[in-house]
Amino acid sequence: MTDSLALAEFAYGLPKAELHLHLEGTLEPELKFELAARNGIELAEKTFEEVKATYNFTDLTSFLAVYYPAMQVLQTADDFHDLAWAYLLRAKEQGVVHAEMFFDPQAHTSRGVPFENVITGYHRAAVRAGDELGISAELILCFLRDFSAEDAAATLESALPYKDWIIGVGLDSDERDNPPSKFSEVFARARAEGFRLTMHCDIDQVGSIDNIRAVLTDIRVERIDHGTNIVEDPELVAIAKERGLGFTCCPVSNSFVTEQMKADEIVSLLRAGLRVMINSDDPAYFGAYVGDNYVALAEQAGLSETDLVQFAINSFEASWLTPEQKAAFVERVGEYAGSRGVALPV
Ligand code: HPA
Ligand code: ZN
Repeated sequence: MTDSLALAEFAYGLPKAELHLHLEGTLEPELKFELAARNGIELAEKTFEEVKATYNFTDLTSFLAVYYPAMQVLQTADDFHDLAWAYLLRAKEQGVVHAEMFFDPQAHTSRGVPFENVITGYHRAAVRAGDELGISAELILCFLRDFSAEDAAATLESALPYKDWIIGVGLDSDERDNPPSKFSEVFARARAEGFRLTMHCDIDQVGSIDNIRAVLTDIRVERIDHGTNIVEDPELVAIAKERGLGFTCCPVSNSFVTEQMKADEIVSLLRAGLRVMINSDDPAYFGAYVGDNYVALAEQAGLSETDLVQFAINSFEASWLTPEQKAAFVERVGEYAGSRGVALPV
C-alpha cells in the first residue's frame, strides 16, 4: 500500500463530526430524477451528463443559480426524508458519527411547500440515523441572507413549534450586499429562544473582514462557516482563538467558488491553534463528501495523519454536543489513532 492510500484509508475511518453540510446540497442527480418522476415534474435536463454539464460554477453566485432551481423536486415530507437519509448513508461510509446539518426552509416555503413538510421529513431521517446508523444527527435552520430580515423573522416564528427538533440557526446564500448586521435582531431573538448560533462568512467576499468582525463582536456567534479570510487580520485571529470559535472549512467547495482550496489559509489557522475543521458544504455539487475533503486537503497541503486527527478532534470540540458527549467522541478518536500507531497532536 502506498502512503497516500494508507492516509486515505485512515481519513475515511477516522470518527468525525460534520458541521457544515447543506442538506439541499446533497441532492445527487439520480435522486433528483427519482423525485421528479414521483412528483410529476418535467426537468430540463434528461440525463446524468446533462445535469452535470450545468455544474460550471465560478463563484458563489453562479453556484447558487444552479442550487436553488434543483430544489423544485422536493415537495413532500417523504422527499425531504429521502434526501437526508441518502446523505446520512453516505456520511456513515465517510466516518461521520455526528452531523449538524443545515437546511434552507425559505427555499421551499417561498415556492409554496409548507414548513411542516420540510421539518417533519428531515427530522424523521435524523431520528432514524440515531437508531439505525449510530449517527447522532441535528438540524440547523439557515436563513437566506438575500431575503429580507422580516422574512427571516417570520421563518423563525414558524420554526418555534418545532424548537426541540432544531439545535441552532445559521445564515447562508448570497453574502454580497447582505451583511450580518441585517440579521442582528433575528439572531438576538433566536438566541433568546435557546437556539445555538452560527453564520456563513463566505470566502473572498467584498467586505469579508468587516463581516467577520461584525459576526465576532456584534452578533457573537459560536462558529463561523468558512471564515478563513480571518487570516488577514491578526487581531481577529487572536479573538477567535481566545474564544475557541469553530471554523467550518470546506476545501473542495472553496476550489469551486474561488480558484483554490484555500489550503494555506486553513493550515495556517490550524497551526495557529484555532478550532478549524473540514466539511463538505454541498457534496453532490462539488463531488466530494467529508472524508473526500480530508483526503483532498491532506494531499494538497502535505498533511500528516496527526493533522487529520486534530481536525477530527476540533470537529467534536466545535460541535453543539454536551461536554460529556464531546469527551467520549474525542476519546474514540484517540483510540482510533492509537490502534493505527498514529501520534496524537500535542
Ligand atoms: N455559502 C452560502 N450559501 C450556501 C452555501 C455556502 O457555502 N452552500 C449552500 N448555500
Ligand atoms: Zn455552506
